[in-house]
Amino acid sequence: MTAMIIDGKAHAAALRARVADGVAGFVAAAGRKPGLAVVLVGEDPASAVYVRTKTRMTAEAGMAGFEHRLPADTTSDDLLALVDRLNADDTVDGILVQLPLPAHIDERRVLTRIDPDKDVDGFHPVNVGRLATGLHGFVPCTPLGCLMLLRATLGELSGLEAVVVGRSNIVGKPMAQLLLQQSCTVTVAHSRTRDVAAHVRRADIVVAAVGIPHFIKGDWIKPGASVIDVGINRIAKEDGGAGLVGDVDFAGAAAVAGAITPVPGGVGPMTIACLMRNTLVAACRRVC
Ligand code: GUN
Repeated sequence: MTAMIIDGKAHAAALRARVADGVAGFVAAAGRKPGLAVVLVGEDPASAVYVRTKTRMTAEAGMAGFEHRLPADTTSDDLLALVDRLNADDTVDGILVQLPLPAHIDERRVLTRIDPDKDVDGFHPVNVGRLATGLHGFVPCTPLGCLMLLRATLGELSGLEAVVVGRSNIVGKPMAQLLLQQSCTVTVAHSRTRDVAAHVRRADIVVAAVGIPHFIKGDWIKPGASVIDVGINRIAKEDGGAGLVGDVDFAGAAAVAGAITPVPGGVGPMTIACLMRNTLVAACRRVC
């Protein structure tokens, strides 16, 4: 079998176009643009690229982007004061503080200071609780994008065996909650799991989010399974350059899977499209 390649770029472009339509409707009704504030502390080059892309996509969707770049030695108190100002600013519907933060800043304090109704990242404990109990809130963008790709590929997910590899707050845990909501039978495997391969071999759906290049081997994949690779790992190539690879051995898995996301061009573009979607939803909820 050769897997269908799930074109995340195309799905993301379609979602961004739907969001742009919704934004036009919002502007006509509310007389202002939805606003997204993105906060970057420090000079991490990868984070700077993500933030630039988020700001560009915000403008392309017809929304107002507010970029706040703070020096690496910003104190927790200064960052909290900025979050307070953004919480109180009526032109700001969504707030995103780019992670990771410098080590001297208390990340938990910052994330819990964001107004849960502006928390378009879905990291605030109130939104974590809303997701766990099936209430409306904000779902973290990467797992939301993975779910959209799975629904577009498979349709109904009810009854399927899903294995999530990785238990982070940003991807693994919310992904497991979303799949449970879809009535999948969900296993979360992680670094202490005794036999990850045995769990993956049973799975109709594999979501790989461990951050280890090619951790999931091709011969672990059940024939016909759908494989979603969240990993974005920078590795040195033989020619001396750098390349991006996922957490899944793509060539090996694509030979047996029914469908698989590539890296790059799979989950990554969906994450930003879902951020645009969450910002529009936040704006609509705030004017209602
Ligand atoms: N850093 C890497 N991924 C993310 C994300 O989804 N949100 C934020 N805020 N920071 C990140």
